[in-house]
Amino acid sequence: MANSTIEVKFNQIFINNTFVNSVSGKTFTTFNPANKQKITDISEGDKADVDLAVKAARKAFKLESKWRTMGATARGHLITKLADIINVHKVALANLETLDNGKPYEDSLTDINNAVSALKYYAGFADKIHGKTIPTNDLNFAYTLTQPVGVVGQVIPWNYPILLLAWKWGPALAAGCTMVLKPAEQTPLTALYIAALSKEVGFPDGVINVVPGYGPTAGAAIASHPDINKVTFTGSTEVGKIIMEQAAKSNMKRVTLELGGKSPLVVFDDFNVDEAVKIAHDAVFSNMGQCCCAGTRTFVQEGIYDEFVEKAAKLASEMKVGNPFESDTKVGPLIDETQYSKVLNLIESGKLQGAKLEAGGSKVGDVGYFVRPTVFSNVTDDMRIAKEEIFGPVQQILKFKTIDEVIERSNNTEYGLAAGILTKNIDIALKFSESVDAGSVWVNCYLAVNPLCPFGGFKQSGQGREMGEDGLSGYLEIKTVSIKKHL
Ligand code: NAI
Ligand code: MG
Repeated sequence: MANSTIEVKFNQIFINNTFVNSVSGKTFTTFNPANKQKITDISEGDKADVDLAVKAARKAFKLESKWRTMGATARGHLITKLADIINVHKVALANLETLDNGKPYEDSLTDINNAVSALKYYAGFADKIHGKTIPTNDLNFAYTLTQPVGVVGQVIPWNYPILLLAWKWGPALAAGCTMVLKPAEQTPLTALYIAALSKEVGFPDGVINVVPGYGPTAGAAIASHPDINKVTFTGSTEVGKIIMEQAAKSNMKRVTLELGGKSPLVVFDDFNVDEAVKIAHDAVFSNMGQCCCAGTRTFVQEGIYDEFVEKAAKLASEMKVGNPFESDTKVGPLIDETQYSKVLNLIESGKLQGAKLEAGGSKVGDVGYFVRPTVFSNVTDDMRIAKEEIFGPVQQILKFKTIDEVIERSNNTEYGLAAGILTKNIDIALKFSESVDAGSVWVNCYLAVNPLCPFGGFKQSGQGREMGEDGLSGYLEIKTVSIKKHL
């Protein structure tokens, strides 16, 4: 692959297919969470830079622009080319992702494969988005046009930087939108790299813009921008509320939110215990627990509770914590000091509130933000560890007796992102799936996230859906055209 022309400037902002300095000239530092060392300085975007990026995106969205006139099939092919070039550069991207985020290298590769799949899925959609003709019962001929919503602002977090970029870019590009992405301040590197790749494959100027910076400055400039038509955000519920408010107060831009969770995974005693322990383990410890849909409330039926706890604790203590570039490492560092102290503080609260520590429960050294995989048993619903989103490698095992009881307790939370149930009883599985407040329900598995399936939250876990065909609707405006017939 001739990639010698690709030039990534990690210390600049990507606007209108060009790397430029921030207007203020300010910079911020991105760190390696495995050793707290500085990686590099990044140009710090703020309102003035977001303004420039929006101007470029608006120009690229004009009806006569190269982007809007290229045809839906060609647009789809361009998205496929982006997916392919990401795949070609996956080793470099995985290295950067692990350096900046701390996740094990194999996990970075998995994220990239999933990002490529998401882009390819939406690439195929580009020329299959169309309206309807409507029998109006009067003399009008009516049809609908499905048009791109316009300039889209995208604010993403640090837990899956490449994957969430693809989740935002795939449907936005398939729909024909243009966009301004703000990566998380902790993990700006891979978005800048992929921006350079998008230029290489031929995206016209201004379609894709990447402005790194902080939330309350660059992020807020996106949420409150008068010329952005839609904002899509993944992150905390707290910031999701601010984004909604700013969107409403500025120009009532459309809003899609994918927020936090405190998802239940319910294990019935008819299910193989060893398999259940493994599924529940992966549900909570994937990505060091820094996963919005992590199954952090493990409800286990009383008959198998003790056996389950013992096996879960053993599995957690066997996981290798350490350098994320070593192939047998399962647990890398948490993302930063804030996350690290939040997680350690919640672990202490669990001990103080009377949960029984079965594994882990402490940090590992002081070189990076490492926390030992932690398992608590005898957890009750009122404890902080059972209520708050921990976003760390901490499993809460709760005991239950009946299906009705566990449904009520599963739903006793402000969140509603995901839920899982492990049982051989189809009636129990059906009842749970119907009753639980969750955007995704996984039966006899967990984390079955797939680009073909809509993903999103009930209650305070979000607004709207991403992925699948439903994920496109947030990027489209429906226009009804009625034409009077004279004959
Ligand atoms: P956050 O919600 O503050 O940050 C996510 C993104 O929002 C980042 O790009 C950030 O710069 C931006 N942001 C922050 N404040 C903003 C504002 N006022 N306006 C616009 N954009 C803003 O999440 P943070 O602080 O990194 O983590 C806090 C907690 O949030 C975590 O402990 C976890 O519980 C939850 N979280 C959930 C995620 C998910 O996947 N649903 C991802 C990251 C965090
Ligand atoms: Mg924050």
